[in-house]
Amino acid sequence: KSIKVFAPATVANVVCGYDVLGFAVNAPGDEVTMNLVDKPGVRISKITGDDGRLPLDASRNTVSASVQHYLDHVKRNDVGVEIELHKKMPIGSGLGSSSASTVAGLFAINTLLDDLLTVKELVPFAMKGEELACGYGHADNVAPALLGGFVLIRSYNPLDIIKLPHPDNLHAAIVFPEVDVPTRDARQMIRSKVFLKDAVTQWGNIAGLVSGLFMKDYDLIGRSMTDVLVEPTRSILIPDFYKLKEIALAEGALSFGISGSGPSVFAFTKEEETAAKIVAKLQQHLNKLNIGSQTYVSAV
Ligand code: HSE
Repeated sequence: KSIKVFAPATVANVVCGYDVLGFAVNAPGDEVTMNLVDKPGVRISKITGDDGRLPLDASRNTVSASVQHYLDHVKRNDVGVEIELHKKMPIGSGLGSSSASTVAGLFAINTLLDDLLTVKELVPFAMKGEELACGYGHADNVAPALLGGFVLIRSYNPLDIIKLPHPDNLHAAIVFPEVDVPTRDARQMIRSKVFLKDAVTQWGNIAGLVSGLFMKDYDLIGRSMTDVLVEPTRSILIPDFYKLKEIALAEGALSFGISGSGPSVFAFTKEEETAAKIVAKLQQHLNKLNIGSQTYVSAV
């Protein structure tokens, strides 16, 4: 038996919801081809599109390692699995690159084994992959990659994942400036203690964003997407972040911020054309700074 699975890139945090909010985009994403073979064990047979950056060693690769966790859990270590991973999105981009690969692998094995678990039950295994990739098993990329759309991680312990609605016309303008920001490092730089007054601002905004999604209130969505906890620190990793923000907002963005741990940035818009205009302007500005970039426009 063989299967080919695509899993999408995701935007984690959604500006104010560090580790608790994320949404999936249509493209880019990664592809996994998985074959069931006679010889038990999990092996990576091929990786393309990674410029040799990802380990072929099955215990260190997030895809094979999380598939192995899954097989241990469902007590199917008799199964033999060969994995081909085709990276179709940039690594270290802040767009949930490791998450897309891991989720594609887990969805593939679960389908090949006739859906032993529900899709939601795959989340903890995908979190193991994130832990291997960056040292912490955050779920705000893997949960939306698995479930699609907008997702809230209400609690990590116990895990409580809620799918959120969103207005029909919501587009993301995404720009990946080609500078390397490993998630592991971008997590370590954040202060672990916050002031109560900042926490108050932040939870007001998270509640505002979630309410805006339910009420389809674009203005509320936009004005809730500010971040006083993480963005002030991480923005220094992103070339000319505040100028990029100014450009996006001047072009009609509802909001602008860092995607996941960066360096990608994203803006929400009501119209697809506005998103297309924004990515072009941001790319132009980055070109002036001699920084290459990749751009994506996606419906949420
Ligand atoms: N919530 C995670 C972080 C997402 O900000 O570190 C990483 O993509």
